This record gives sequence, structure tokens and C-alpha cells, in this order.
Amino acid sequence: MKTRSFLTVMALLAFFACNAQTPRSDKDAVLDNILTRASVRSFTSKAVEPEKVETMLRSGMAAPTAMNKQAWHFVVVTDKTKLKAIQQYESPLAIVVCGDTMKGKDLWIADASLASENILLTAHALGLGAVWTAVYPREETIQNVRKTLQLPDHLIPVNTIIIGYPAADPQVKDKWNPENISYNTYGGKK
Ligand SMILES: Cc1cc2nc3c(=O)[nH]c(=O)nc-3n(C[C@H](O)[C@H](O)[C@H](O)COP(=O)(O)O)c2cc1C
Repeated sequence: MKTRSFLTVMALLAFFACNAQTPRSDKDAVLDNILTRASVRSFTSKAVEPEKVETMLRSGMAAPTAMNKQAWHFVVVTDKTKLKAIQQYESPLAIVVCGDTMKGKDLWIADASLASENILLTAHALGLGAVWTAVYPREETIQNVRKTLQLPDHLIPVNTIIIGYPAADPQVKDKWNPENISYNTYGGKK
């Protein structure tokens, strides 16, 4: 009996020592963040701190852009009336990501989309929830956002990212599907 207790204690010590020696790396944290993000559509009324808004904007602007043209503009919306006019879901904050057609002739949508993904991932890393809601290419929605935010003609709103503190944990979808991958030629196997 004594031997068994001793072995159990040793096993526990070995387990903790082993885990202490292998702390989670930054790489694990980045991958975790990507793999556990999910769209959030219901929020508490808690306001998003200005520092977190700036962190999301900094992340957005860290995205790659075609020829480094940075063909984008970000409109931060906290005004309740304006939020109501452009929101699919009620939240204390939205960031409208626009493509700038004066800075990037045809690749503004790629620039704006990559910035948007960075914003979505950063929201998740900061304990916030977010969802991309569609604007472009729906003409009626573009006009509504354009009018509400008084956007100049050269800016095209690509999406409205709805952001806030999640009211509940969202379900993460497993989208891994090897059928969506080919090797070397379409349908080619590994
Ligand atoms: C181009 C695009 C348009 C989307 N439009 C909407 C939308 O209008 N409303 C909405 O609730 N979610 C929208 N979404 C979010 C998707 O529904 C969501 O990403 C998808 O169901 C996968 O779920 P996940 O984000 O939780 O992984 C959009 C996402 C993308 C990329």
C-alpha cells in the first residue's frame, strides 16, 4: 500500500515537473486563437475599452496589402443611432471596414478582407466576440452604410464587424475537410 502511495506521489510530481518544463509557446497561443475563433452574434451591454479598439485597429492595419497600398479605411461606430441603422445584431461597437478605390484599383477587397480577419482574431484574443456582417456587394446595404456614415464615393464598405463582450460562448465549427484539398492537380492525392 505504502509503495503504491509513493508511486502515485512520484507520478504526480513527474507530471507537474514535465508540464512546468514545457510551457505553452507563443506559437501554440496563436494557433489556439485561430482554431477557437467563432462568430459571435449576441453581446452584453458592456462597452469595449478604447485600448482594445485601438489594438484591433492596429492588428487590422498589420495585414498584408497588395503592393502595400493599404487600400482601406476603418470607421469605428459607437453612436447608438448609427449602430441601430447598420447593425444586424445589437452590440456596443462596430467597425466598418471599407475598401479605398483611390488607393487600390482592383485589390481593395482583398486588403479589406485580410484586415477584417485580423480584427476578428484580435477581438477573440482580447476576450471579445465579433462577426463579419455582409455589406459588399449588396447595393442596398452599401447605400445604407454609405448614407449613415457619410462615406465619400471612393470608399466602399465591405462589411460591418459587430463587436462586443459575448453573452454566451459560441460553438466553434470544425471546417477541416480534406476533400477541399488537391495535390499538384485538381483531385490529385497526397
Ligand atoms: C463574406 C462573409 C459574409 C458574412 N455575412 C454574414 C452576415 O451577413 N451575417 C452573419 O450573421 N454572419 C455573416 N458571416 C459570418 C459567417 O456566417 C460565419 O463566418 C460562418 O457561418 C462560419 O462560422 P464561424 O465564423 O463561427 O466559423 C459572414 C462571413 C463572411 C466571411
